[in-house]
Amino acid sequence: MGRFSIPIMGFMLLCCLAALTEAKYLKYKDPKQPLGARIKDLMNKMTLAEKIGQMVQIERSVATPDVMKTYFIGSVLSGGGSVPAPKASAEAWVNMVNELQKGSLSTRLGIPMIYGIDAVHGHNNVYNATIFPHNVGLGVTRDPQLIKRIGDATALEVRATGIPYVFAPCIAVCRDPRWGRCYESYSEDPKIVQQMTEIIPGLQGEIPVKSRKGVPFVAGKQKVAACAKHFVGDGGTTKGIDENNTVIGLNGLLSIHMPAYYNSISMGVATVMISYSSWNGKRMHENRDLVTDFLKNKLKFKGFVISDWQGIDRITSPPHANYSYSVEAGVGAGIDMIMVPYNFTEFIDDLTDQVKRKIIPMSRIDDAVKRILRVKFVMGLFENPVADFSLVNQLGSKEHRELAREAVRKTLVLLKNGKSAYKPLLPLPKKTAKILVAGSHADNLGHQCGGWTITWQGLGGNDLTTGTTILNAVKNTVDPSTQVVYSENPDAEFVKSNKFSFAIVVVGEPSYAEMFGDSNNLTIPEPGPSTISNVCGAVQCVVVVISGRPVIIQPYLAKIDALVAAWLPGTEGQGIADLLFGDYGFTGKLARTWLKTVDQLPMNVGDPHYDPLFPFGFGLTTKSTKN
Ligand code: GLC
Repeated sequence: MGRFSIPIMGFMLLCCLAALTEAKYLKYKDPKQPLGARIKDLMNKMTLAEKIGQMVQIERSVATPDVMKTYFIGSVLSGGGSVPAPKASAEAWVNMVNELQKGSLSTRLGIPMIYGIDAVHGHNNVYNATIFPHNVGLGVTRDPQLIKRIGDATALEVRATGIPYVFAPCIAVCRDPRWGRCYESYSEDPKIVQQMTEIIPGLQGEIPVKSRKGVPFVAGKQKVAACAKHFVGDGGTTKGIDENNTVIGLNGLLSIHMPAYYNSISMGVATVMISYSSWNGKRMHENRDLVTDFLKNKLKFKGFVISDWQGIDRITSPPHANYSYSVEAGVGAGIDMIMVPYNFTEFIDDLTDQVKRKIIPMSRIDDAVKRILRVKFVMGLFENPVADFSLVNQLGSKEHRELAREAVRKTLVLLKNGKSAYKPLLPLPKKTAKILVAGSHADNLGHQCGGWTITWQGLGGNDLTTGTTILNAVKNTVDPSTQVVYSENPDAEFVKSNKFSFAIVVVGEPSYAEMFGDSNNLTIPEPGPSTISNVCGAVQCVVVVISGRPVIIQPYLAKIDALVAAWLPGTEGQGIADLLFGDYGFTGKLARTWLKTVDQLPMNVGDPHYDPLFPFGFGLTTKSTKN
């Protein structure tokens, strides 16, 4: 062997060892490295295809491990009602998410995907989850700490199913109750909506004080990334028409619809979803001034911006009419992740082509991917990409249901209590001979949960999930000697002949979501009004209204002895009986103006011509009989 061969051999051996070590050591996979260094290292390694893949969110129904791997897909979602199987267990959810994740982890760089879902009032797609009151009721509580506890519980239930990301909270400021999504809004008052952003630290964890403004924060495996939505002005559309046009000056937009985003960003919200609606005629999904110049540059938001479902398609009318324009306009406006959700190859091909033809600059792609990676690194997804079953018992736990029951109590608003102030009807006696429970919503868990429950639009009946109907709550509460008679829609003769001590009538709106809830009359559909007339004309009655917003009630008010606004209480109907029978007192104050007639709308607190049936802030109180 030549005299140089040994040193050369040694050198080559060292190089191999170094290369091997280098191959084993990847800076971006090292959690001890600074966040910026990890992002930079990974970005430098990524191809255009891998970068564009990160910007794609697809629906669960078109996702497979192979699709995740082949297209480097960065995110998957469950659309409303999209479940691995009917009444799937937490374990089944974990297995489904993990199977897709393994597809992502098997890619060259092993970048974990992030799975997102709507948990807008608890983990509402999932059977046996605790369903909390919808935001329209939570705003009544004016209790940020309660909302934070709800966020904490929701995060645990979402993580129980292996999911680390929720499209919540909706921080819309609903200014017209004709909007089908008004129940997703905490209030017409931006200050209440700002208070309710306390749900974000509940969902994500409390951001450390020293954190830089706008940087996303998610505190590990029992917390989830949140999503402030829908940016911006979704609740201000003309006549409340969903996805329509919000006509308002910049000052109005900034003073009514923007404030809760300031709070959300200061709390480290990880993502912001763009609204389908337009501002003064310009679609938010193509509004670069507000998405990039204002949200990203002025407010210093450092998380990622996600489109709504087919949000870029709806930039054009009809939707998808010019997809290349939609891709250029949406990505160009500053949207980082596109909720495609089905035609992902079309999106990937179109965006790739527009980047290669320099229509969309590489700098825009790099900004988007950097933000997506930042959220994934910050929330520990690289360290813990695969879920386990350690939290499955959190789903629908007794503790969470008790929290939801407390929330229900605090959301109720007592609007009338007896035909004379001197003879209040509530609280009702637990011990009496015979009482009637009536109405379409008395024994209907689906109606009391409302939309975004198990399915997108929600369901009627009692089979959709587990919980306590108002009828069963009454039965649980009264003295065993009290006879409880239930009749969904009794006639007056039946009521008279039975000589009930009093009646509880529970009526309201059917379940709905988004545009399917848009209304131009806000009436309680039959048989609600007939049930009120038949029952309240024959016996003392308390009417409990289950609705996603204030509805027309004035025509029946004189017949009604006591009136309770219960909004959409969710699975824990026991909270309603707690107040009807005095175990707790009524405390809720309206967070929305209660109209007399639809032609008064829009009508919000502070308006000059303000003539409501019940004003913003109104609510009668009762004392608990327990103390
Ligand atoms: C819906 C809603 C949005 C939701 C998304 C995913 O259309 O606008 O609030 O998060 O699609 O379900």
